[in-house]
Amino acid sequence: MSKMYEKLQKCVSIIREKTDFVPEVALVLGSGLGEYARNMDVKAEVPYSEIEGFPVSTVAGHDGRFLFGYVEKVPMVIMKGRVHYYEGYDMTDVVMPIRIMGMLGAKKVILTNAAGGVNQDFQPGDLMMITDHISTFVPSPLRGENLDELGTRFPDMSHVYDPELCEVIRKAAKKLNVPLKEGIYVQCSGPNYETPAEIRAFRGMGVDAVGMSTVCEAMAANHMGMKVCGISCITNMAAGILDQPLNHKEVQEVADRVKTTFERLVTETVMQ
Ligand code: HPA
Repeated sequence: MSKMYEKLQKCVSIIREKTDFVPEVALVLGSGLGEYARNMDVKAEVPYSEIEGFPVSTVAGHDGRFLFGYVEKVPMVIMKGRVHYYEGYDMTDVVMPIRIMGMLGAKKVILTNAAGGVNQDFQPGDLMMITDHISTFVPSPLRGENLDELGTRFPDMSHVYDPELCEVIRKAAKKLNVPLKEGIYVQCSGPNYETPAEIRAFRGMGVDAVGMSTVCEAMAANHMGMKVCGISCITNMAAGILDQPLNHKEVQEVADRVKTTFERLVTETVMQ
């Protein structure tokens, strides 16, 4: 058995000492959904700091914990505060929480994030369902010894974002009358924002939105057979599109403005 799988099993057993809750759906909260837990009937909480060997996020405002409970009767685990590659962890550590949620029973995962708009038809405040991604600019979380217990060495990535779940999100948006964009997300390492030249290159590659998370998580979840979907909140136009520098405050402000709609869309998706 690989060292990483042993480490994951240890984390799972620490969580299992605290709760026997079995989630069906995992939800990763990005900027803009930080308060989503108010929609959950929380049955158990496990702070990351109580899980030995678990990567603990260092970003201010990223309060790291797993929440277990029900959203509209659906048993869920919420990852409140994710771990980012730019904090300095290896990709295999960054995806530990996803793998653990899968090992705890979650069959589906909803990934959310804040992203910069590369597609010039987008506007800050738009919500974009992720239909595919480009992972080429960050290391694969599957590099290194394969975790055979979870999945195969050379996993297919033809449909990382489950077509049925994508259809569920489309229907949910329609029902709520929420305009929904769709597109391709690229993960960059961060923590710096991209250059205008990088954004132009991405646009040429067919990218619609850029961010610093999500893709590695989607790959790890896909590897272990979870059904994946993702929604980005476009918080700003990517570098070079507007004649103004990017700043984290703007990202947070827009995420904050959209949060109620974003929350409603996620809840409606979970209910369907
Ligand atoms: N680039 C990368 N990550 C981001 C951005 C961006 O423009 N906006 C929010 N997260």
